[in-house]
Amino acid sequence: MYSLLFKTVLARMDPERAHRLAFALIRLAGRTPVVRGLLAARFAPRHVELRVHALGRSMPGPFGLAAGFDKNAEGVDGLAVLGFDHVEVGTVTGRPQPGNPRKRLFRLVPDRALINRMGFNNHGSAAVAARLAARTRRRGVTRRSPVVGVNIGRTKAVSDEEAVGDYVSSTRRLAAYADYLVVNVSSPNTPGLRALQATESLRPLLAAVREAADEAVPGRRVPLLVKIAPDLADEDVDAVADLAVELGLEGIIATNTTVAREGLALSSGPSVTAETGGLSGAPLQARSLEVLRRLYARVGGRVTLVGVGGVTTAEDVWQRILAGATLVQGYSAFVYEGPGWPRKLHEGLAARLAASPYDTLAEAVGAGHRKAEAA
Ligand SMILES: Cc1cc2nc3c(=O)[nH]c(=O)nc-3n(C[C@H](O)[C@H](O)[C@H](O)COP(=O)(O)O)c2cc1C
Repeated sequence: MYSLLFKTVLARMDPERAHRLAFALIRLAGRTPVVRGLLAARFAPRHVELRVHALGRSMPGPFGLAAGFDKNAEGVDGLAVLGFDHVEVGTVTGRPQPGNPRKRLFRLVPDRALINRMGFNNHGSAAVAARLAARTRRRGVTRRSPVVGVNIGRTKAVSDEEAVGDYVSSTRRLAAYADYLVVNVSSPNTPGLRALQATESLRPLLAAVREAADEAVPGRRVPLLVKIAPDLADEDVDAVADLAVELGLEGIIATNTTVAREGLALSSGPSVTAETGGLSGAPLQARSLEVLRRLYARVGGRVTLVGVGGVTTAEDVWQRILAGATLVQGYSAFVYEGPGWPRKLHEGLAARLAASPYDTLAEAVGAGHRKAEAA
């Protein structure tokens, strides 16, 4: 049914308008208790064997919604009833900002991909913190509350010298509401952002965010992760991995969108593929998986790895887990597959786990490497 709706209605709409419409419905569903109950009964995960414990929280499964869909933390509860096991909100910047001029989001339907140059359009960390605080007051926090990651990034208008301070002020405001915090240094649409991935810039940034989170939330160590680009050279991937261990980071998210344009179907058309911005979806899959494998080989077991980029099927999720991911995320395929997508992934994943030699997903994490070593 969704594929028909996509073909006949959504694909004919401007992608950003289609997103706004779909998200408005999801938010409405999350606010209406009866609808929430009905949706949860249909979509929410129910395979107890898929439960994972990661980043200090227990989750119904390993699969979450990647950053960028809910930039302002407006729809966490609606998204959770669709079956996402965690929701990463953001990217949130220190100051509110409108993002780049439209048009800034493009569909590459034959490639099952998107190109975006949104440029961190968001309400800013003060407004998002107030929204998360109000939600906590309204709903309370229980073991059943969805796991919410908060992804922070740099305000476009700040100078390079002010960039660390910008992340720190967002951290102070948001850390208390975050099950985990992500320092995003990998989106291609904010000038100067990806330069922060170089270890000499990344070390002081991550140390400052760590300190700010500890000061803001003295009773709890908020897990801190860094999200990296697929366009890093392999040595730089290794350098970030080593830095994560050195600084005691809880995790690495691999990967963000790519500036590369390899492997695209000609039918997507040069007018779209030539758009600047980050490419996501199926064409990103191979490189994201490669980066994940590399990270696991370097720091597996010491740092929680989150695999993202081109994940579409349950087999893709399974392959990320075997490659070393404890958690897996997706965004672009949600646009093409629709609201039943998380449930489909859970069902396929439960079948794969049952057919495997492993009793739990935790046992399967990184098993692809152990097999390769034994061979
Ligand atoms: C429209 C759009 C907006 C995004 N915005 C963000 C963002 O604000 N912060 C971020 O860290 N990643 C952002 N991403 C990247 C995704 O979180 C994800 O890393 C990437 O899309 C690869 O996953 P996918 O192939 O499943 O989409 C965005 C992706 C898309 C498609």
